[in-house]
Amino acid sequence: MDLKHVDKFAKEMIFEAGRRIRQSFSYDLKIETKSGANDLVTNVDRETELFFIESIKAFDATHKVLGEEGMGEKVHSLEGPVWIIDPIDGTMNFVKQHRHFFITIGFYVDGVGKLGYIFDVMREDLFCAIAGEGAWYNGSPLRKLQPLTIDEAVIGINASWVTPNKHINHEKIIELVRTVRGTRSYGSAAMEIAFVVSGKLDAYISMRLAPWDIGGGIVIAKEVGAIATNLNGQDCDLLNSDTFIIANPYIHHKIVEDYIEEK
Ligand code: IPD
Ligand code: CA
Ligand code: CA
Ligand code: CA
Repeated sequence: MDLKHVDKFAKEMIFEAGRRIRQSFSYDLKIETKSGANDLVTNVDRETELFFIESIKAFDATHKVLGEEGMGEKVHSLEGPVWIIDPIDGTMNFVKQHRHFFITIGFYVDGVGKLGYIFDVMREDLFCAIAGEGAWYNGSPLRKLQPLTIDEAVIGINASWVTPNKHINHEKIIELVRTVRGTRSYGSAAMEIAFVVSGKLDAYISMRLAPWDIGGGIVIAKEVGAIATNLNGQDCDLLNSDTFIIANPYIHHKIVEDYIEEK
């Protein structure tokens, strides 16, 4: 497969989707809830996913598409070429702030990450990678992540994980928050992953992410030496939701070993 050709197609598709989303602010957003009051979806999430599916099927009808909003086929295996797509990551930011929302896409062949994209729709900033060739931010190469210690780290974490919850021992997370230099919470997993691969954050932790939140980011992570696993340190599952950590390679192990105690 000519990855450069697929990459060119993917970038054009993402830029066009971005243009369409930005235009959509000029007419009504239809906002609905999914699993609960803070789980939002809009007509733009669905229309964007449909645009991706139609574009990919026109490019090559044999490619499968796994998307958050379920607008396409059901994907039960990663066999063959598979696109893993979140049409808008950070839907709450999209609805509430009109910024800080991302398109994120991973292209996999037989379960192996080949291409990864995280696109800031309002800033038109693109983080991307081609497996084995490198990663870029708006055309400039991203460098390998540099050594640092845990007390120098700035980490992305959702504030709810420092209160009692059913997933992890929150006391340990409080210890982590006290140890690091700072914490941030941006409301888009893709944005936080993009920040880790470009050294603007040193780790990002979540108790529950889906394949489409991380599929693109994992490909970029590998190119810069960031380590992405579940909170047990195992490889990420790209067909099911799971816990997630992406971190600078010099602190990944320490966070998992010393600060994560799953219930
Ligand atoms: C959500 C965002 C959010 C994360 C949630 C995701 P969505 O994605 O990435 O930051 O905390 O777990 O579901 O629903 O906006 O695509
Ligand atoms: Ca969602
Ligand atoms: Ca998402
Ligand atoms: Ca989404």
